[in-house]
Amino acid sequence: MKRSRFFSIASLLLIFSAASFGTLELRAQSRTNQSLPRIVQKDGRYALFVDGAPFLMLGAQVNNSSAWPEMLPKVWPTVEKLHLNTLEVPIYWEQFEPQQGHFDPSVLHTLLDQARQHHVHLVLLWFGTWKNGSGHYTPPFIKLDEARVPHVVNAEGHKVDSLSPHSQVGLDADRAAFTELMRDLKAADPQHTVIMVQVENESGTYGSVRDFSPQAQKLFAGQVPAVLLKAMQKQPGTWQQVFGDNADEFFHAWSIAHYIGEVAAAGKAVYPLPMYVNAALRDPLHPGKANTYESGGPTDNVIPIWKAAAPAIDLLAPDIYLPDYARYTKVLDLYHRADNPMLVPETGNSPEYARYFFAALGHQAIGFSPFGMDTTGYVNAPIGAARIDEDALAPFALNYSIFGPMDGVIARLNFEGKLQAVSEDPAVHTQTLDFGKWKAVISYGLPQFGNGKVPPGNTPPDGGAMVAQFGPDEFLVTAVHARVDFEVADKSLAKQRQFVKVEEGNYEGNNWHFTRIWNGDQTDYGLNFTSAPQVLRVSLATY
Ligand code: DGJ
Repeated sequence: MKRSRFFSIASLLLIFSAASFGTLELRAQSRTNQSLPRIVQKDGRYALFVDGAPFLMLGAQVNNSSAWPEMLPKVWPTVEKLHLNTLEVPIYWEQFEPQQGHFDPSVLHTLLDQARQHHVHLVLLWFGTWKNGSGHYTPPFIKLDEARVPHVVNAEGHKVDSLSPHSQVGLDADRAAFTELMRDLKAADPQHTVIMVQVENESGTYGSVRDFSPQAQKLFAGQVPAVLLKAMQKQPGTWQQVFGDNADEFFHAWSIAHYIGEVAAAGKAVYPLPMYVNAALRDPLHPGKANTYESGGPTDNVIPIWKAAAPAIDLLAPDIYLPDYARYTKVLDLYHRADNPMLVPETGNSPEYARYFFAALGHQAIGFSPFGMDTTGYVNAPIGAARIDEDALAPFALNYSIFGPMDGVIARLNFEGKLQAVSEDPAVHTQTLDFGKWKAVISYGLPQFGNGKVPPGNTPPDGGAMVAQFGPDEFLVTAVHARVDFEVADKSLAKQRQFVKVEEGNYEGNNWHFTRIWNGDQTDYGLNFTSAPQVLRVSLATY
């Protein structure tokens, strides 16, 4: 937000000088476009640009019922303790439009005001037609209009707790409300406190692979839309003919994605902020049948369908509540695609999840956000911490205290493809990052001092490391609970690495502030990182 204030002064100067040359409108417009938060793609990599520069979202999400003004005093202390630069907060359709056509932006405006006071950006979560698959956040005029906004009907003819994506009345109403939200936001937020918008929340349906209502059956018996055939390189036919065993699930994914794509497109037409959809995952290693997970949302198997159906959505993002290394990193692999910027919009808030911040960075994440980070009294122990106290916050706060001062530098290095990062894999204890002539070797667990010691791993596994390359022999290094060292990649050269200089310091903006040189015990056994927030600039040579 410091940068935002700078840009407000800059914008005044720009308006003054542009007005004096009679080109006010054009130049103000181009500045607005440049400073509007946006996703930028270059050389197959993505960055979230905020105020015209790559931005790394160090985020957290509040509990579902925590965005109400009376609750916010129980949110901000946690925001501060975590060193967040971004808070994810819901906007509830039932609150925003209590009666059809009557909008109440008061909660939105309170959030904007208080976020600015606390110097954080916001990501708004539109809890509309879908929240965890259900329509619980729809206003009464939707909930009570079952004839026109019906529930999904399962194959046995029973209603399930999810609204049908085939209701034109539902779509029109959601789209109108979301468009009004974006219109109001545009007017109320010239400084871009809000940097992204999530459209719906974990959309899809539990309890039925798709809608089997008469209306849905008719559509299902029809032809697959041409745009989807093209995207999937398929020949024309009905859903069953084209997609066989996957037809039910793919039809539902297309239907929901198309609906949400329409909502997003209408919102973007008035205010084009980056927009994403979050996914309730299926098991990435052993996915069961479609009716064993939330069907229709952007699970890994239907990402191409979502891309074709909802081009207004910038990215599809996994909510990762899978604490084991193999599953967590598999999910990151599945969503880190050439056509999809990487974002972890929700993850568990128990300490074991904190180290995955590094793996997310290593998958070029534009942001990371543990869920349920406030002290309103709710905890979801099966997927997170038993209580949100200092112990639960500490490992997340450590990550963000390391990366907060250099978030822009890190986002830029990642965008340029110069950064690699890993989380501790309890199965191996040593990981290697390839930087051409150099290999960075990350090892975990104490004691590692002396020759011949084998790293035993941390118990519990809580390490992570990041290495970014500035030049052929120059690196930026940080880690938690890990040792980082470098080796000459080509063993046949029979050369050893030596540290020319290891500087500890940190960034303020783009400027490096030197603190001290590490040497002696601090470098003789590699670069050992504990739970102290330490960042090093390392230059290497061989002997
Ligand atoms: C994922 C959802 O997206 C969140 O809103 C929340 O319900 C968590 N699951 C569980 O607490």
